[in-house]
Amino acid sequence: AKPLKLTDFAKMRAAGEKIAVLTSYDSSFATLLDRCGVDIQLVGDSLGNVLQGHSSTLPVTLEHMEYHTGCVSRGVHRSFIMSDMPFGSYQESPAQAMRNAARLMAAGAHMVKIEGGAYMAETIRFLVERGVPVCAHIGLTPQSVNQLGGYRVQGANQLQAAIMKDDARALQDAGATFVLMEMVPAALAGEITASLQEAGTIGIGAGVDCSGQVLVLHDMIGVYPGKRPRFTRDFMVGASSIDDAVTRYVAAVKDKSFPAAEHSY
Ligand code: KIV
Ligand code: NA
Repeated sequence: AKPLKLTDFAKMRAAGEKIAVLTSYDSSFATLLDRCGVDIQLVGDSLGNVLQGHSSTLPVTLEHMEYHTGCVSRGVHRSFIMSDMPFGSYQESPAQAMRNAARLMAAGAHMVKIEGGAYMAETIRFLVERGVPVCAHIGLTPQSVNQLGGYRVQGANQLQAAIMKDDARALQDAGATFVLMEMVPAALAGEITASLQEAGTIGIGAGVDCSGQVLVLHDMIGVYPGKRPRFTRDFMVGASSIDDAVTRYVAAVKDKSFPAAEHSY
């Protein structure tokens, strides 16, 4: 299969085909995910939790992200590679973000992901104009856990919902290719997805109406020992192998059987 490009995602969205995304951190799993049809592999700073054993993503460094991005990129043939910019590597200024995004792109990323709402629009425009595709991440933004006071649903009241809609629009207008929404009520995430023309959406705990879905690999194969949030599903249940579980995940995203109401808010 040929490597996926940004234009392929525009075609998938136009055809109503859902985009299947999983996190990925090493070369062997990258090859497995690739052959099972995962469209985008996200080198997530969730590696701070699932690989490093931290209780948040805050200790993850740019060097860690470069290392794991390189590992994943050496295992991938078809999947598009998105890498998280870690806490503190992009918030200071557009110039700081560009300098650090360039390192992730040099390590093999095809796109970077940045947490934050409309206040990140200027930075996103700066990156996009300079050749760095960007996914914006709104709703529950784990790097802000200390400000948010925990990992909980966002956009649950009218004021929060209105701000989130404005954020999504501003991020699209700044040139973000995708807006990722984490722990957002399904109805709101569906409304935001329908309201965006240029940008696609990727959901995690954001209902079935997003343009694509993402899960943390270690959650969906039942390996992570911590508490599993409502929005995840262990695809190893009833599967004969990890390949089978990942193939079932991709199929469930494409046929919209995942996420179900029980995984949504
Ligand atoms: O780091 C990560 O895995 C993520 C997903 C949960 C979206 O950002
Ligand atoms: Na992340």
